[in-house]
Amino acid sequence: MTAAIDRLTQAFNHALHHAFGLSWTNAEPLVVAAKNPDHGDYQCNAALGLAKTLKQAPRAIASQLLDHLPPDLGDLCDPPTLAGPGFINLRLHSRYLATELQQRYGDDRLGIAPIAHPQRVVVDFSSPNIAKEMHVGHLRSTIIGDSIARILEFLGHEVLRLNHVGDWGTQFGMLITYLREVHPDALTQADALDLGDLVAFYKKAKQRFDGDPQFQAQARDAVVRLQQGEEDSRQAWQLLCNQSRREFQILYDRLNINLTERGESFYNPFLEAVVTDLKARGLLEEDEGAQCVFLEGFSNREGKPQPLIIQKSNGGYNYATTDLAAVRYRITQDHAQRLIYITDAGQSNHFAQFFQVAQRAGWVPDTVELAHVPFGLVQGEDGKKLKTRSGDTIRLRDLLDEAWLRADSDLYGVVQAQDWTDVASAVFGIDDWETAAAALPGEQPLGDKVHLLQTSLTEALQRQVPGWLQDPATVPPVAQPTLEHLRQTLDQRWSQSHDRQARDFQTILQDSQTIGHSAVKYADLSQNRTSNYVFSYDKMLSLQGNTAPYMLYAYVRVQGISRKGGVDFQHWQDTGATVRLILEEDLELALAKHLLQLETVVQAVAQDLLPNRLCQYLFELSQKFNQFYDRCPILKAEEPQRTSRLLLADLTARTLKLGLSLLGISVLERM
Ligand code: ARG
Repeated sequence: MTAAIDRLTQAFNHALHHAFGLSWTNAEPLVVAAKNPDHGDYQCNAALGLAKTLKQAPRAIASQLLDHLPPDLGDLCDPPTLAGPGFINLRLHSRYLATELQQRYGDDRLGIAPIAHPQRVVVDFSSPNIAKEMHVGHLRSTIIGDSIARILEFLGHEVLRLNHVGDWGTQFGMLITYLREVHPDALTQADALDLGDLVAFYKKAKQRFDGDPQFQAQARDAVVRLQQGEEDSRQAWQLLCNQSRREFQILYDRLNINLTERGESFYNPFLEAVVTDLKARGLLEEDEGAQCVFLEGFSNREGKPQPLIIQKSNGGYNYATTDLAAVRYRITQDHAQRLIYITDAGQSNHFAQFFQVAQRAGWVPDTVELAHVPFGLVQGEDGKKLKTRSGDTIRLRDLLDEAWLRADSDLYGVVQAQDWTDVASAVFGIDDWETAAAALPGEQPLGDKVHLLQTSLTEALQRQVPGWLQDPATVPPVAQPTLEHLRQTLDQRWSQSHDRQARDFQTILQDSQTIGHSAVKYADLSQNRTSNYVFSYDKMLSLQGNTAPYMLYAYVRVQGISRKGGVDFQHWQDTGATVRLILEEDLELALAKHLLQLETVVQAVAQDLLPNRLCQYLFELSQKFNQFYDRCPILKAEEPQRTSRLLLADLTARTLKLGLSLLGISVLERM
């Protein structure tokens, strides 16, 4: 409805000019959205502000404005009304709303026009560090970054999704040295080598490093050789990166995230130029042997300007140096006009600082925007840092698995604990749990031991299933008959229940995976990113409230209603036939107006990069639909109302689907 407010603004400007010879220069827009929907959709409050200048009563001014409005507004809004001391209330005409919506129905983009002047945008997101933990902060960056990229892409911008992985730095000396120690022949069998848990590998390497000065010396030597480009060291480094990459990719695949890797190492050849060019601009100063830029607006404890170290006294470079080289590269080589960086708020100073240096160096033309998009912490339900029950950091894969399995048991209740136990007993060849458990060492009661054995084996088994689902060829022969048995049991269970379609095991597990992953994404995106958020499986998987399951369910329901109506809108759309919308009831009008807000909301998110606004919009949309559906019969309505309302349902479903897709969430057709 951007068009509506633009037309109204023009109309009032016209009136101002013709009535008083004025044009509007006030900071507040001439026409604004109405605060209270009872008073209409928009209002013009100009008369109040003009009273002093014109030396007239505001009501009198307002009424002259009304007299001078252009006559062709009739198709846009009802006759404007004068209220209170001089407000002018404007209510959009239902015919106008109907026409606008009718146009949406024939448009796959639902009225969101591709941007007139597309930009080249770099979105720098996810960006984990090689051989280190990819933690929930990286997950947040991944989810938020992907959504922002999707929205910008949808609007027609050219987006470069960059994964600025931490693949360079002194830690590689230690890792390479340790790799040589434990796998002397690593390089010759690089393809076959599986270092397993790289995080554990990192920890062990660190232990070696901390405990042995000789190892430390070797590690330092290895860094130097790596930086000099020595072939063996480079290969070892490459091998470590590849192992990490494989791990990261599993996660990106599961979350359906597309990224181009361009790690820190990529900018190595450009680091020296950062130093020379800053020097040439007279920005570099030496401080305790290091080359620094003294920052404006940042001071240290003694109140002196804080330095940003560009090159250390030993000649090494910093995180910030790489980012400076990257900014230049992205502007000069990628021709980016907007650079968006998505990291936790803890890095805000880092970004403010190197942005400043890049700007002072003259590397950022006026036409280029640099934006850090910060987000808050992910906390456990205890308000502290998110951890596993045993106090370890959570592996992201485990986190997604857990969301998935809980989605299954919460929403479908299909695969029950007993089912898993049955499968486990077959897969692990256990006929009698008590006998098996009795063999476990320890003094606890037998019941506890049985429980322990069952939970650990079923958990171990459940971890396998995502892999099996993706690639059925990998199901071990021993598990095949039991999985098959489970599948049959479930099929039976489904076909016995009347209200739901029978679906097979695989579909259910896949659907619950979609729901679980969507829940994790949506929980993150629906919060204002700048605040911390509490990670709670129970909340994110709840069918009540602003959650993914609620939204997915809303879609299924609306879609179901519109499907039951038996009107093939796709066909109408393809043949270019028009549907007549009749908007009479207040709730119909409210839904129609909300549907028309999609473009404004998406554009706002592209501007302020707050995807939670889109979540809120979609949540309100499903609520408005529910209110409408409660009061206005659809399937039982008479024609032409029936088709008109079915179209509203269809547009609602399509809006939900498109909106969710911009959040990186795909809908289910059944639930
Ligand atoms: N690797 C960094 C980290 O894990 C994030 C990098 C963000 N991007 C950037 N251009 N600095 O904290």
